[in-house]
Amino acid sequence: AGWIADALVIFGITGDLARKMTFPALYRLERRGALTCPVVGVAATALSTQELLVRARTAIEESGEPVDEAVFARLARRLTYLAGDVTDPQLYKVLAAQLARARRPLYYLEMPPSLAAPIVDRLDAAGLVGDGRVAVEKPFGHDLASARELSDRLHQVLDDRQLLLVDHFLGKEPVIEIEYLRFANFAMAQLWDRDSVEVVQITMAENFGVEGRGPFYDAVGTLRDVVQNHLLQVLALVAMDPPIGASADDLRDKKAEVLKAMPPADARHCVRGQYDGYTQLPGVDPESDTETFVALRLGIDSWRWAGVPIFIRAGKQLPVRATEVRLVLRNTPRLRFLPNAARVEANQVVLRITPEPGLRLQLAALDEHHAWRPVRLDSLFAQELGVPQAPYERLLYDALTGDDRLFARQDAARESWRILQPLVAYPPPVHRYPVGSWGPPGADALLSGHPPWQPPWLPRG
Ligand code: BG6
Repeated sequence: AGWIADALVIFGITGDLARKMTFPALYRLERRGALTCPVVGVAATALSTQELLVRARTAIEESGEPVDEAVFARLARRLTYLAGDVTDPQLYKVLAAQLARARRPLYYLEMPPSLAAPIVDRLDAAGLVGDGRVAVEKPFGHDLASARELSDRLHQVLDDRQLLLVDHFLGKEPVIEIEYLRFANFAMAQLWDRDSVEVVQITMAENFGVEGRGPFYDAVGTLRDVVQNHLLQVLALVAMDPPIGASADDLRDKKAEVLKAMPPADARHCVRGQYDGYTQLPGVDPESDTETFVALRLGIDSWRWAGVPIFIRAGKQLPVRATEVRLVLRNTPRLRFLPNAARVEANQVVLRITPEPGLRLQLAALDEHHAWRPVRLDSLFAQELGVPQAPYERLLYDALTGDDRLFARQDAARESWRILQPLVAYPPPVHRYPVGSWGPPGADALLSGHPPWQPPWLPRG
């Protein structure tokens, strides 16, 4: 507590992320009076500050925000643009002059991760780190060795507290809610372990492809793009023990414990898929065997979860867009007064992250014909809890005000790579799947002997 940024420096301000997320977030922070420091945008493109402001306005408009001129004028007054090569030490002299009075700058790196270490080294050489902090976007390395190397290099300059790993899933309201739903509610807390849960199923389905992101995606694939970061972070929140205090590290210690208790993935329990037509996309190697779908089985060797299989599937060009965590519960004893109950679907708890965040509890009841039916108790968070801030608005604000709870720590990032390393080092063969299907057939076979993949909970209509 107590750390508040007195300058914000955004490296890569002309990039895609800035256009889609950062400018709209800055605008909304400005509108609610939450932005208090100067903002310097850095990138290679030769632009004037005026030209950057034109881009900022377009980005805000594209996000669907009506531009309030008074708010925009305030934002414009704090924004300056610095053009240059981020590997050129000269750039940092100019930056130093601009940051003259700042003692606690937040450097937000929206640049390819290979530039993180060079930028931090040059900030250090120019004496610009001080009590500042550095926020970096994923991916944090591309395998275990590179994640270690990056973390070691950054740690030569930064201590743990000064390095924030941005994972936008951690800024999503339903993901933040996991901790509170689980531990503030006896009904949830009591059923959250191996005694009650038969399997955990995490699905991240997207009904669109890799259009326009070919060169990025082809070098990465689904496992690195969303499993190593987003989905393992979500799993850590779903599986962790209660934090012993309210600090960021109290929470992150418990998350790290989950990951530390997970054995390395086994390639025999992993299915990789690639949708038909992927290799024809611009920027994709025609011979590519990068996966656009992955399904895998993991486990957690902890007292709470031993023996409970954790199934994760994620992919592009699937039938629907839906991200959810589903706990399939064990059955009660099916005694004689519960006729045919053996055939009823198991109870389930579903946390929906995308779209329309919410919580579903699926129970069983008898219908008018005395047949078993699932009954579903659904809570839609937007209706019950109000409209949350967008993830990037929240994360930017937290980073500026020194609240680290929603940032991943690099021990977690490293552990995630350790868990996935067998699949990264020796990827199982990739199987094609038709656009609009649930991936290759092996993804279903992976669950044999366990409750099959449940169709995701979709919004009405
Ligand atoms: C990004 C991935 O991190 O997350 C994308 O690179 C993916 O491939 C995206 O589509 C999903 O995020 P959201 O917030 O749209 O669910």
